[in-house]
Amino acid sequence: MARDDAEFRAARQMELSGEFRRAYLAYLSAASSLAKPAAAYFRAGLLASRLENTIGAVRAFELAVSTPGAVPNYWYYYARSLHRIEDPYRARYAYQQYAQRRTKKGGPVFHHRGGLLPFRRGVRYGAVRRPEYAHSMLHAADLARVLGEDRIRVAEFGVASGQGLLAAQDHAHVVEELTGVVVELWGFDTGEGIPESDDHRDLRHYFGPGDYAMQDRAALEARLERGQLVLGDAQETVSAWIAEGPPIGALLFDMDLYSSTLGVLNHLAAAEDRHFLPRVSLAFDDIGPKTPGFQIKDYSDVTGEAAAIRDFNQGYREVQLAPDKWFTALPDHAPWHDMCYLMHRFEHPSYRTRVRGSASDHMRLRSDAEADEDPAEDPERGSL
Ligand SMILES: C[S@@+](CC[C@H](N)C(=O)[O-])C[C@H]1O[C@@H](n2cnc3c(N)ncnc32)[C@H](O)[C@@H]1O
Repeated sequence: MARDDAEFRAARQMELSGEFRRAYLAYLSAASSLAKPAAAYFRAGLLASRLENTIGAVRAFELAVSTPGAVPNYWYYYARSLHRIEDPYRARYAYQQYAQRRTKKGGPVFHHRGGLLPFRRGVRYGAVRRPEYAHSMLHAADLARVLGEDRIRVAEFGVASGQGLLAAQDHAHVVEELTGVVVELWGFDTGEGIPESDDHRDLRHYFGPGDYAMQDRAALEARLERGQLVLGDAQETVSAWIAEGPPIGALLFDMDLYSSTLGVLNHLAAAEDRHFLPRVSLAFDDIGPKTPGFQIKDYSDVTGEAAAIRDFNQGYREVQLAPDKWFTALPDHAPWHDMCYLMHRFEHPSYRTRVRGSASDHMRLRSDAEADEDPAEDPERGSL
Protein backbone atom coordinates (compact mmCIF):
# COMPACT_ATOMS: atom_id res chain seq x y z
CA MET A 1 0.00 0.00 0.00
CA ALA A 2 1.38 3.45 -0.89
CA ARG A 3 2.27 5.67 2.08
CA ASP A 4 -0.27 8.38 1.12
CA ASP A 5 -3.11 5.85 0.76
CA ALA A 6 -2.23 4.56 4.21
CA GLU A 7 -2.52 8.07 5.61
CA PHE A 8 -5.95 8.50 4.02
CA ARG A 9 -7.13 5.19 5.46
CA ALA A 10 -5.78 6.08 8.88
CA ALA A 11 -7.72 9.36 8.74
CA ARG A 12 -10.86 7.43 7.76
CA GLN A 13 -10.40 5.11 10.75
CA MET A 14 -10.13 8.12 13.08
CA GLU A 15 -13.29 9.56 11.55
CA LEU A 16 -15.17 6.27 11.95
CA SER A 17 -14.15 6.06 15.59
CA GLY A 18 -15.44 9.57 16.26
CA GLU A 19 -12.08 11.35 16.56
CA PHE A 20 -13.22 14.15 14.31
CA ARG A 21 -10.61 16.79 15.08
CA ARG A 22 -7.70 14.38 14.65
CA ALA A 23 -9.27 12.97 11.50
CA TYR A 24 -9.72 16.48 10.06
CA LEU A 25 -5.99 17.22 10.53
CA ALA A 26 -5.04 13.77 9.25
CA TYR A 27 -7.04 14.25 6.02
CA LEU A 28 -5.33 17.58 5.41
CA SER A 29 -1.96 15.99 5.98
CA ALA A 30 -2.82 13.04 3.68
CA ALA A 31 -4.02 15.42 0.97
CA SER A 32 -0.62 17.08 0.74
CA SER A 33 0.97 13.84 -0.49
CA LEU A 34 -1.83 12.36 -2.62
CA ALA A 35 -1.71 12.54 -6.44
CA LYS A 36 -5.50 13.12 -6.41
CA PRO A 37 -6.09 14.90 -3.12
CA ALA A 38 -9.66 16.15 -3.76
CA ALA A 39 -11.39 13.39 -1.78
CA ALA A 40 -9.17 13.98 1.26
CA TYR A 41 -9.87 17.72 1.17
CA PHE A 42 -13.56 16.96 0.77
CA ARG A 43 -13.64 14.74 3.86
CA ALA A 44 -11.68 17.39 5.77
CA GLY A 45 -14.34 19.90 4.70
CA LEU A 46 -17.16 17.67 5.95
CA LEU A 47 -15.42 17.27 9.30
CA ALA A 48 -14.68 20.98 9.58
CA SER A 49 -18.43 21.65 9.05
CA ARG A 50 -19.24 19.11 11.70
CA LEU A 51 -16.79 20.79 14.09
CA GLU A 52 -18.42 24.14 13.23
CA ASN A 53 -15.12 25.35 11.84
CA THR A 54 -16.86 27.22 9.00
CA ILE A 55 -13.80 28.94 7.59
CA GLY A 56 -11.86 25.65 7.68
CA ALA A 57 -14.75 24.03 5.79
CA VAL A 58 -14.77 26.72 3.09
CA ARG A 59 -11.00 26.39 2.63
CA ALA A 60 -11.08 22.57 2.51
CA PHE A 61 -14.00 22.48 0.02
CA GLU A 62 -12.28 25.12 -2.09
CA LEU A 63 -9.25 22.82 -2.32
CA ALA A 64 -11.54 19.85 -2.98
CA VAL A 65 -13.06 21.50 -6.09
CA SER A 66 -9.77 22.81 -7.41
CA THR A 67 -7.47 19.81 -7.11
CA PRO A 68 -7.25 16.57 -9.13
CA GLY A 69 -9.96 14.04 -8.35
CA ALA A 70 -12.76 16.61 -7.90
CA VAL A 71 -16.32 15.46 -8.70
CA PRO A 72 -19.37 17.70 -9.35
CA ASN A 73 -20.89 17.11 -5.91
CA TYR A 74 -17.93 18.79 -4.19
CA TRP A 75 -19.08 22.05 -5.78
CA TYR A 76 -22.38 21.70 -3.97
CA TYR A 77 -20.71 21.38 -0.57
CA TYR A 78 -18.35 24.26 -1.38
CA ALA A 79 -21.36 26.41 -2.36
CA ARG A 80 -23.23 25.48 0.79
CA SER A 81 -20.26 26.44 2.97
CA LEU A 82 -20.11 29.81 1.18
CA HIS A 83 -23.85 30.28 1.68
CA ARG A 84 -23.32 29.67 5.40
CA ILE A 85 -20.69 32.37 5.70
CA GLU A 86 -22.98 34.68 3.65
CA ASP A 87 -20.64 35.09 0.71
CA PRO A 88 -23.35 35.32 -1.98
CA TYR A 89 -21.14 36.08 -4.98
CA ARG A 90 -18.86 33.09 -4.53
CA ALA A 91 -21.83 30.94 -3.46
CA ARG A 92 -23.65 31.84 -6.68
CA TYR A 93 -20.63 30.93 -8.76
CA ALA A 94 -20.20 27.63 -6.91
CA TYR A 95 -23.89 26.63 -7.16
CA GLN A 96 -23.81 27.43 -10.87
CA GLN A 97 -20.68 25.32 -11.31
CA TYR A 98 -22.36 22.44 -9.50
CA ALA A 99 -25.50 22.68 -11.65
CA GLN A 100 -23.53 22.95 -14.91
CA ARG A 101 -21.30 20.01 -14.09
CA ARG A 102 -24.19 17.78 -13.04
CA THR A 103 -26.17 18.75 -16.13
CA LYS A 104 -23.21 18.06 -18.44
CA LYS A 105 -22.78 14.60 -16.98
CA GLY A 106 -26.51 14.00 -17.47
CA GLY A 107 -26.88 13.71 -13.71
CA PRO A 108 -29.81 15.09 -11.75
CA VAL A 109 -29.35 18.49 -10.13
CA PHE A 110 -32.19 18.70 -7.62
CA HIS A 111 -32.35 16.23 -4.83
CA HIS A 112 -35.77 14.81 -5.37
CA ARG A 113 -34.24 13.38 -8.55
CA GLY A 114 -31.07 12.15 -6.83
CA GLY A 115 -29.18 15.46 -7.00
CA LEU A 116 -28.18 17.55 -4.01
CA LEU A 117 -29.39 21.06 -4.69
CA PRO A 118 -32.71 22.20 -3.20
CA PHE A 119 -34.65 23.91 -6.01
CA ARG A 120 -35.32 27.07 -4.02
CA ARG A 121 -31.62 27.44 -3.30
CA GLY A 122 -30.88 26.83 -6.98
CA VAL A 123 -33.29 29.58 -8.00
CA ARG A 124 -31.97 31.95 -5.34
CA TYR A 125 -28.48 31.64 -6.81
CA GLY A 126 -29.51 31.54 -10.46
CA ALA A 127 -28.22 27.96 -10.77
CA VAL A 128 -31.22 26.90 -12.89
CA ARG A 129 -31.99 27.68 -16.53
CA ARG A 130 -34.04 30.88 -16.85
CA PRO A 131 -34.08 31.63 -13.12
CA GLU A 132 -36.57 34.45 -13.74
CA TYR A 133 -39.03 31.87 -15.10
CA ALA A 134 -38.40 29.53 -12.16
CA HIS A 135 -38.80 32.32 -9.62
CA SER A 136 -42.05 33.53 -11.18
CA MET A 137 -43.55 30.05 -11.36
CA LEU A 138 -42.54 29.19 -7.81
CA HIS A 139 -43.90 32.47 -6.48
CA ALA A 140 -47.19 31.91 -8.29
CA ALA A 141 -47.56 28.35 -6.98
CA ASP A 142 -46.69 29.45 -3.43
CA LEU A 143 -49.36 32.15 -3.57
CA ALA A 144 -51.90 29.77 -5.11
CA ARG A 145 -51.29 27.26 -2.32
CA VAL A 146 -51.86 29.86 0.37
CA LEU A 147 -55.07 30.97 -1.36
CA GLY A 148 -56.32 27.38 -1.60
CA GLU A 149 -55.99 27.05 -5.38
CA ASP A 150 -54.81 23.65 -6.56
CA ARG A 151 -54.07 24.54 -10.21
CA ILE A 152 -52.62 27.53 -12.00
CA ARG A 153 -51.95 28.51 -15.60
CA VAL A 154 -48.54 29.71 -16.73
CA ALA A 155 -47.85 31.06 -20.23
CA GLU A 156 -44.81 32.13 -22.18
CA PHE A 157 -45.42 34.87 -24.76
CA GLY A 158 -42.81 34.50 -27.51
CA VAL A 159 -41.71 30.87 -27.90
CA ALA A 160 -39.50 30.82 -31.05
CA SER A 161 -37.75 27.44 -31.13
CA GLY A 162 -38.92 26.65 -27.60
CA GLN A 163 -35.83 26.82 -25.39
CA GLY A 164 -37.63 28.97 -22.80
CA LEU A 165 -40.82 26.92 -22.88
CA LEU A 166 -38.86 23.70 -22.33
CA ALA A 167 -37.06 25.28 -19.36
CA ALA A 168 -40.47 26.33 -17.99
CA GLN A 169 -41.69 22.76 -18.49
CA ASP A 170 -38.78 21.43 -16.40
CA HIS A 171 -39.52 23.98 -13.70
CA ALA A 172 -43.22 23.09 -13.76
CA HIS A 173 -42.43 19.51 -12.69
CA VAL A 174 -40.36 20.65 -9.72
CA VAL A 175 -42.71 23.47 -8.70
CA GLU A 176 -45.58 21.01 -8.70
CA GLU A 177 -43.69 18.55 -6.50
CA LEU A 178 -42.65 21.29 -4.10
CA THR A 179 -45.99 23.02 -3.72
CA GLY A 180 -48.61 20.45 -4.71
CA VAL A 181 -50.08 23.02 -7.13
CA VAL A 182 -50.62 21.66 -10.65
CA VAL A 183 -49.05 23.88 -13.33
CA GLU A 184 -50.72 24.07 -16.76
CA LEU A 185 -48.28 25.47 -19.32
CA TRP A 186 -48.96 27.36 -22.55
CA GLY A 187 -46.79 28.96 -25.21
CA PHE A 188 -47.93 31.79 -27.54
CA ASP A 189 -46.16 32.64 -30.76
CA THR A 190 -46.88 33.82 -34.28
CA GLY A 191 -44.92 30.77 -35.48
CA GLU A 192 -43.49 33.04 -38.15
CA GLY A 193 -41.20 35.13 -35.98
CA ILE A 194 -41.22 38.84 -35.23
CA PRO A 195 -44.17 40.59 -36.96
CA GLU A 196 -43.97 43.64 -39.26
CA SER A 197 -43.92 47.04 -37.57
CA ASP A 198 -42.71 50.53 -38.30
CA ASP A 199 -43.01 51.72 -34.69
CA HIS A 200 -39.60 52.91 -33.44
CA ARG A 201 -40.54 51.64 -29.94
CA ASP A 202 -40.40 48.11 -31.42
CA LEU A 203 -36.57 48.39 -31.58
CA ARG A 204 -36.48 48.23 -35.36
CA HIS A 205 -32.74 48.90 -35.12
CA TYR A 206 -32.41 45.45 -33.60
CA PHE A 207 -35.38 43.17 -34.43
CA GLY A 208 -36.52 42.50 -38.00
CA PRO A 209 -39.67 40.81 -39.38
CA GLY A 210 -39.34 37.03 -39.40
CA ASP A 211 -36.58 36.93 -36.75
CA TYR A 212 -36.83 33.86 -34.51
CA ALA A 213 -39.36 32.06 -36.75
CA MET A 214 -40.24 28.66 -35.27
CA GLN A 215 -38.01 26.23 -37.17
CA ASP A 216 -39.50 22.88 -36.25
CA ARG A 217 -42.89 22.95 -34.59
CA ALA A 218 -43.27 19.16 -34.66
CA ALA A 219 -39.93 18.65 -32.90
CA LEU A 220 -40.91 21.12 -30.19
CA GLU A 221 -44.35 19.58 -29.72
CA ALA A 222 -42.75 16.14 -29.44
CA ARG A 223 -40.75 17.38 -26.43
CA LEU A 224 -43.68 19.14 -24.78
CA GLU A 225 -45.10 16.81 -22.16
CA ARG A 226 -47.42 19.37 -20.65
CA GLY A 227 -47.08 22.56 -22.68
CA GLN A 228 -49.51 23.54 -25.42
CA LEU A 229 -48.80 25.95 -28.25
CA VAL A 230 -51.19 28.68 -29.37
CA LEU A 231 -50.10 29.96 -32.78
CA GLY A 232 -51.05 33.35 -34.22
CA ASP A 233 -50.71 36.96 -33.10
CA ALA A 234 -50.94 36.75 -29.30
CA GLN A 235 -52.90 40.00 -29.27
CA GLU A 236 -55.67 38.12 -31.09
CA THR A 237 -55.41 34.72 -29.39
CA VAL A 238 -54.94 35.72 -25.76
CA SER A 239 -58.51 36.83 -24.89
CA ALA A 240 -60.11 33.45 -25.57
CA TRP A 241 -57.32 31.76 -23.61
CA ILE A 242 -57.74 34.01 -20.57
CA ALA A 243 -61.42 33.08 -20.29
CA GLU A 244 -60.94 29.29 -19.94
CA GLY A 245 -59.15 27.43 -17.13
CA PRO A 246 -57.70 27.76 -13.65
CA PRO A 247 -56.33 31.10 -12.41
CA ILE A 248 -53.42 32.57 -14.33
CA GLY A 249 -50.43 32.62 -11.97
CA ALA A 250 -47.34 33.51 -13.99
CA LEU A 251 -46.74 35.10 -17.39
CA LEU A 252 -43.33 34.95 -19.04
CA PHE A 253 -42.88 37.72 -21.62
CA ASP A 254 -40.34 37.34 -24.41
CA MET A 255 -41.91 38.94 -27.50
CA ASP A 256 -39.25 41.66 -27.72
CA LEU A 257 -41.59 44.29 -29.19
CA TYR A 258 -43.26 47.20 -27.43
CA SER A 259 -46.45 46.77 -29.47
CA SER A 260 -46.86 43.00 -28.90
CA THR A 261 -46.14 43.32 -25.18
CA LEU A 262 -48.48 46.25 -24.56
CA GLY A 263 -51.15 44.64 -26.76
CA VAL A 264 -51.19 41.47 -24.63
CA LEU A 265 -50.97 43.42 -21.35
CA ASN A 266 -54.02 45.46 -22.36
CA HIS A 267 -56.07 42.28 -22.87
CA LEU A 268 -54.96 41.04 -19.44
CA ALA A 269 -56.09 44.30 -17.82
CA ALA A 270 -59.46 44.19 -19.57
CA ALA A 271 -60.24 40.61 -18.46
CA GLU A 272 -62.19 39.68 -15.35
CA ASP A 273 -60.17 39.32 -12.14
CA ARG A 274 -61.51 35.84 -11.46
CA HIS A 275 -59.28 34.44 -14.21
CA PHE A 276 -56.12 35.46 -12.30
CA LEU A 277 -54.37 35.20 -8.98
CA PRO A 278 -54.61 38.60 -7.27
CA ARG A 279 -50.91 39.17 -7.88
CA VAL A 280 -49.63 37.56 -11.06
CA SER A 281 -45.89 36.87 -11.35
CA LEU A 282 -44.37 38.32 -14.51
CA ALA A 283 -40.96 37.86 -16.11
CA PHE A 284 -39.82 40.29 -18.83
CA ASP A 285 -36.90 38.94 -20.82
CA ASP A 286 -36.02 42.18 -22.56
CA ILE A 287 -36.18 44.72 -19.80
CA GLY A 288 -32.41 45.08 -19.95
CA PRO A 289 -29.25 43.21 -20.94
CA LYS A 290 -28.53 39.91 -19.21
CA THR A 291 -24.83 40.08 -20.01
CA PRO A 292 -22.64 43.09 -20.73
CA GLY A 293 -22.17 41.84 -24.33
CA PHE A 294 -23.78 43.75 -27.18
CA GLN A 295 -23.81 47.36 -26.08
CA ILE A 296 -25.45 49.00 -29.11
CA LYS A 297 -28.64 47.04 -28.67
CA ASP A 298 -29.46 50.15 -26.60
CA TYR A 299 -32.07 48.93 -24.14
CA SER A 300 -34.05 51.83 -22.76
CA ASP A 301 -37.14 52.80 -20.81
CA VAL A 302 -38.63 54.54 -23.88
CA THR A 303 -38.63 51.46 -26.16
CA GLY A 304 -39.48 47.74 -25.96
CA GLU A 305 -40.88 45.99 -22.91
CA ALA A 306 -39.87 48.73 -20.46
CA ALA A 307 -41.86 51.34 -22.41
CA ALA A 308 -44.82 48.93 -22.60
CA ILE A 309 -44.79 48.58 -18.79
CA ARG A 310 -44.57 52.35 -18.33
CA ASP A 311 -47.43 53.07 -20.76
CA PHE A 312 -49.55 50.27 -19.30
CA ASN A 313 -49.21 51.72 -15.80
CA GLN A 314 -50.25 55.13 -17.07
CA GLY A 315 -53.39 53.64 -18.63
CA TYR A 316 -54.84 51.82 -15.59
CA ARG A 317 -55.38 52.38 -11.90
CA GLU A 318 -56.83 49.09 -10.70
CA VAL A 319 -54.17 46.94 -12.40
CA GLN A 320 -50.53 47.94 -11.99
CA LEU A 321 -47.17 46.37 -12.82
CA ALA A 322 -44.35 46.76 -10.31
CA PRO A 323 -40.89 45.22 -9.86
CA ASP A 324 -40.85 42.27 -7.45
CA LYS A 325 -39.19 43.93 -4.46
CA TRP A 326 -38.31 40.62 -2.82
CA PHE A 327 -34.91 40.81 -4.48
CA THR A 328 -33.97 43.95 -2.59
CA ALA A 329 -33.61 41.74 0.50
CA LEU A 330 -30.70 39.92 -1.13
CA PRO A 331 -27.19 41.21 -0.54
CA ASP A 332 -26.15 40.45 -4.13
CA HIS A 333 -27.67 41.55 -7.41
CA ALA A 334 -28.06 39.61 -10.66
CA PRO A 335 -29.50 41.01 -13.92
CA TRP A 336 -32.37 38.51 -13.90
CA HIS A 337 -33.69 39.99 -10.64
CA ASP A 338 -34.66 43.11 -12.60
CA MET A 339 -36.80 41.03 -14.98
CA CYS A 340 -39.24 39.92 -12.28
CA TYR A 341 -42.43 41.95 -11.84
CA LEU A 342 -45.81 41.47 -10.26
CA MET A 343 -49.15 42.41 -11.77
CA HIS A 344 -51.20 43.78 -8.88
CA ARG A 345 -54.96 43.45 -9.47
CA PHE A 346 -56.22 45.69 -6.70
CA GLU A 347 -59.93 44.99 -7.30
CA HIS A 348 -59.46 41.21 -7.22
CA PRO A 349 -61.73 39.68 -4.55
CA SER A 350 -58.68 37.92 -3.02
CA TYR A 351 -56.30 40.87 -3.21
CA ARG A 352 -56.76 41.53 0.50
CA THR A 353 -56.80 37.87 1.58
CA ARG A 354 -54.20 37.46 4.32
CA VAL A 355 -51.26 35.34 3.17
CA ARG A 356 -49.63 35.00 6.61
CA GLY A 357 -50.78 33.92 10.06
CA SER A 358 -52.08 36.29 12.68
CA ALA A 359 -50.10 39.51 13.05
CA SER A 360 -50.29 39.27 16.84
CA ASP A 361 -48.31 36.01 16.72
CA HIS A 362 -45.63 37.65 14.56
CA MET A 363 -45.35 40.55 16.98
CA ARG A 364 -45.32 38.48 20.18
CA LEU A 365 -42.41 39.46 22.44
CA ARG A 366 -39.97 36.61 22.19
CA SER A 367 -36.84 35.58 24.07
CA ASP A 368 -33.55 36.20 22.24
CA ALA A 369 -33.13 32.44 21.73
CA GLU A 370 -36.59 32.13 20.15
CA ALA A 371 -35.95 35.12 17.91
CA ASP A 372 -32.67 33.53 16.74
CA GLU A 373 -34.58 30.44 15.68
CA ASP A 374 -37.48 32.20 14.00
CA PRO A 375 -38.40 29.90 11.10
CA ALA A 376 -39.74 32.90 9.17
CA GLU A 377 -36.13 34.06 8.94
CA ASP A 378 -34.92 30.74 7.57
CA PRO A 379 -34.22 31.14 3.85
CA GLU A 380 -34.36 27.38 3.44
CA ARG A 381 -37.88 27.10 4.83
CA GLY A 382 -40.01 25.07 2.48
CA SER A 383 -37.05 23.78 0.49
CA LEU A 384 -37.04 20.30 -0.80
C1 LIG B 1 -36.84 36.24 -28.80
S1 LIG B 1 -38.06 35.24 -29.46
C2 LIG B 1 -38.56 34.23 -28.13
C3 LIG B 1 -37.47 33.36 -27.60
C4 LIG B 1 -37.94 32.28 -26.68
N1 LIG B 1 -38.70 32.78 -25.57
C5 LIG B 1 -36.78 31.46 -26.16
O1 LIG B 1 -36.60 31.45 -24.95
O2 LIG B 1 -36.07 30.84 -26.92
C6 LIG B 1 -39.40 36.33 -29.70
C7 LIG B 1 -40.65 35.65 -30.24
O3 LIG B 1 -41.75 36.50 -30.02
C8 LIG B 1 -42.72 36.20 -31.01
N2 LIG B 1 -43.68 37.32 -31.11
C9 LIG B 1 -43.42 38.64 -31.21
N3 LIG B 1 -44.56 39.35 -31.30
C10 LIG B 1 -45.57 38.42 -31.22
C11 LIG B 1 -46.98 38.50 -31.26
N4 LIG B 1 -47.64 39.68 -31.40
N5 LIG B 1 -47.69 37.37 -31.13
C12 LIG B 1 -47.09 36.18 -31.00
N6 LIG B 1 -45.74 36.03 -30.99
C13 LIG B 1 -45.00 37.15 -31.10
C14 LIG B 1 -41.89 35.97 -32.25
O4 LIG B 1 -42.56 35.12 -33.14
C15 LIG B 1 -40.61 35.36 -31.71
O5 LIG B 1 -40.61 33.98 -31.91
